[in-house]
Amino acid sequence: MTTQLKDKKGADTATLTYNGSSATLPIVRGTENETAIDIEKLRASTGLITLDPGYGSTGSCRSAITFIDGEKGILRYRGYPIEELAEKSNFLEVAWLLLHGELPTPAELQSFTSEITRHTMLHQDFDRFFDALPKDAHPMPVCSAAIGALTTFYQEPESEHQLHDTIIRLMAKMPTIAACSYKHSIGQPFMYPMNRLDYSSNFLRMMFGIPCEEYEVDPVLARVVDLLLILHADHEQNCSTSTVRMVGSSMANLYASIAAGISALWGSLHGGANQKVIEMLEQIEREEGSADKFLARAKDKNDTTRLMGFGHRVYKSYDPRAAILKKACGDVIERVGVSSRMLEIAMRLEEVALKDDYFVSRKLYPNVDFYSGVIYQAMNIPVNMFTVMFTMGRLPGWIAQWIEMRNDEHFRIARPRQIYVGSPKRAYVPASARGRSA
Ligand code: SDX
Repeated sequence: MTTQLKDKKGADTATLTYNGSSATLPIVRGTENETAIDIEKLRASTGLITLDPGYGSTGSCRSAITFIDGEKGILRYRGYPIEELAEKSNFLEVAWLLLHGELPTPAELQSFTSEITRHTMLHQDFDRFFDALPKDAHPMPVCSAAIGALTTFYQEPESEHQLHDTIIRLMAKMPTIAACSYKHSIGQPFMYPMNRLDYSSNFLRMMFGIPCEEYEVDPVLARVVDLLLILHADHEQNCSTSTVRMVGSSMANLYASIAAGISALWGSLHGGANQKVIEMLEQIEREEGSADKFLARAKDKNDTTRLMGFGHRVYKSYDPRAAILKKACGDVIERVGVSSRMLEIAMRLEEVALKDDYFVSRKLYPNVDFYSGVIYQAMNIPVNMFTVMFTMGRLPGWIAQWIEMRNDEHFRIARPRQIYVGSPKRAYVPASARGRSA
């Protein structure tokens, strides 16, 4: 089944003139009038390629899943504003929306939830998998390896029927794998999932419950986890999603593609930033607690310090997710009854930065990672699990984008070109003649 991702076909064209010749290229216009030059035939018609390190001006695909307007701070999943989904929906409903393009009927949601609930357990052999890993292993490579290992338990996840099972297994087992990677790191026994609990409550119980006593999930905190998962569920063609698409375009299976996406998300400039934000706030508190001093370093060209959780390739205004999380911080801290020095420092940093020309002129605002860590810490989620929380949230988005890529009528393996700037042709030099000339 191929999907026609229809852009607004218009008569618009762009003309490229180069070296005395010219090429007429079609203009593609999206639903919200974003405009692109379609260069698919550029090389064939001119011999030219384009060059765009980091792809800041390059679109990789047409997509109908998520829309972001970075200037206006707009984020919508399948057309629904993130603010409405955050307030009125729940994570599995949002996952269905991302995967299927429409909000589920009550019957569809009930069936989806029930299937996921019944697939949350891991094969018993996974106990040996975790045992093989060092106790102090960071949970992100553990999760990436575990997701990749699912391919060894469920062969050939590609067929139409199997793909449905693969999606259910990924959604169901991700929280279990995440909780097991945490329990393994603290030497506690794994907690089996409990089918009577909802998705987020089940995760909290597997994380913080112990076999020898009942664990009562705080429904307010479970709702906060659900909110965090919704806010992280998709974000169009970010680094990790592009990785999932790239790997999937080689016909690598969905487990392998998601495992690659988890590794990409771990980077400190991407999903790993939420862990770096808390480490930054703790450093500020340890050293001098002064936002001004830290910001001076973040602005210093000769200092690699960055204001983690600030700045974004697309958002040149406040990340709408950060605004929602900033409010949720207060709710969580009030609920758990702890004061949060981290929240105070974060809010002071934001206040000072948003009045500082360095940040204002570069349109650097808080992104999704700036406040999420404060919430996770208030909920006693360990710092090295913060990006795992991001992974759990982003999973349905990665899956939806992978499916859209595979069904795209324009589908082909992703294989960028390059401009070669290395040595010109030269003859082999025998070892005896290889003195290094001074
Ligand atoms: C996520 O893409 C997505 O959608 C990602 C994400 C998602 O949901 O998938 O939204 C999740 O990854 C959020 C981003 C988390 N990362 C961080 O918070 C790390 C800190 N921020 C950055 O390093 C940076 O802002 C990026 C990586 C997010 C964006 O980098 P860009 O677009 O390549 O911008 P840049 O590095 O070229 O910065 C432009 C200028 C530079 O200064 P000048 O060369 O103009 O003098 O702004 C400066 C940068 O030095 N700058 C910062 C800064 N971010 C950019 N200076 C200090 N602190 C910062 N945080």
